[in-house]
Amino acid sequence: MFELYLTLVLLIVLSSTDAAPAKSGYLSCSGNISSVTDIDRVHFAMNLEYTEAEFFLKGATGKGLDAFNATLAKGGPAPIGAKKANLDPITRRIIEEFGYQEIGHLRAIADMTGGIPRPLLNLTRENFAMFMDRAVGRRSNPRFDPYANSRNFLLASYYIPYVGLTGYVGTIPYLVYFNIKQLVAGLLGVESGQDGVIRTLLYERQNETVEEYGGITVAKLTNEISNLRNELGMCGIKDEGLCVPPWLGAENRTTSNILAANPYSLSYDRTAQEILRVMYGTGDEHQPDGFWPCGGNGRIARMFLEDDVYHGNCGAYTDGN
Ligand SMILES: *[C@@H]1O[C@H](CO)[C@@H](O)[C@H](O)[C@H]1NC(C)=O
Ligand SMILES: *[C@@H]1O[C@H](CO)[C@@H](O)[C@H](O)[C@H]1NC(C)=O
Ligand SMILES: *[C@@H]1O[C@H](CO)[C@@H](O)[C@H](O)[C@H]1NC(C)=O
Ligand SMILES: *[C@@H]1O[C@H](CO)[C@@H](O)[C@H](O)[C@H]1NC(C)=O
Ligand SMILES: *[C@@H]1O[C@H](CO)[C@@H](O)[C@H](O)[C@H]1NC(C)=O
Repeated sequence: MFELYLTLVLLIVLSSTDAAPAKSGYLSCSGNISSVTDIDRVHFAMNLEYTEAEFFLKGATGKGLDAFNATLAKGGPAPIGAKKANLDPITRRIIEEFGYQEIGHLRAIADMTGGIPRPLLNLTRENFAMFMDRAVGRRSNPRFDPYANSRNFLLASYYIPYVGLTGYVGTIPYLVYFNIKQLVAGLLGVESGQDGVIRTLLYERQNETVEEYGGITVAKLTNEISNLRNELGMCGIKDEGLCVPPWLGAENRTTSNILAANPYSLSYDRTAQEILRVMYGTGDEHQPDGFWPCGGNGRIARMFLEDDVYHGNCGAYTDGN
């Protein structure tokens, strides 16, 4: 708990003094990107929707998006490393439903706007283990495997819909058109529901210990993941674990934190740049890696990439669209 305080205090200090710029020169915490359209904004969200679709569908059913709808990915490369997870029956049903919901979300965006190709997704056990190791600050032993059991799958899932949720909250104020606002409001509703369910399931397991990290509790591990995302996002506190000090709880009256929210209990927002920093794991929207090793697709993600970033073995995987 003490480390949590320290990290949070540090983050507050950093965010109030205009944190040190990323190595490539500028750091934006503003969602006001010039010359970006509503369609660019929903296309950006598709990167996250593809990531969730593949992780949930493969984890619950053993089959990826292409098995359900062969055209939605628009020729984007198959994801790497996703596989059927060893889930208990209730968790499997829940995750299966979430996976189908993601297909619906992708279809909704594609039907309204045409959509973008699926980016290359790194859903390997090694990539999840790498993010978890960084969050905890030690190497897992045995290696963390998101597909090994329900608890690990839920911990890995903690990483994903929440980022989508904050992205939708961040993008809605900039939208112009009625039909796109209506679409994104609907996406936000289900996305936040998914996050609430995942966090509730984890909350029930808050005292379980994770052997891969020397017996750290589930609650503590969620704090560590949230801290990592706050560090990578570099725009202050936008993320909180399942158990918090009272000054971060609702109305300063509780330490349970099933839903992460600001002092008014309103959802946090994140910009596209923050989301790229978090999903790349590099803390830099110009440096792809992590879940999207060849970068996100669509105009917003690509505008931060120099041509030379995606030469080499990413050439076959990308489409600026
Ligand atoms: C976004 O930037 C444009 C151009 O700089 C400016 O006119 C507009 O007021 C800004 N909008 C917000 C919500 O900050
Ligand atoms: C795949 O999704 C697209 C977009 O909604 C839809 O037009 C198409 O019919 C779907 N294909 C299948 C096999 O469901
Ligand atoms: C996926 O992530 C793992 C762990 O970081 C890495 O070793 C592997 O090279 C990545 N795969 C791709 C295609 O980027
Ligand atoms: C977790 O442990 C704490 C402290 O021992 C206890 O107060 C709490 O009820 C436990 N929570 C659950 C969900 O078991
Ligand atoms: C909760 O505590 C924080 C920090 O001490 C303070 O800024 C905030 O106003 C308090 N909120 C309420 C509802 O009292």
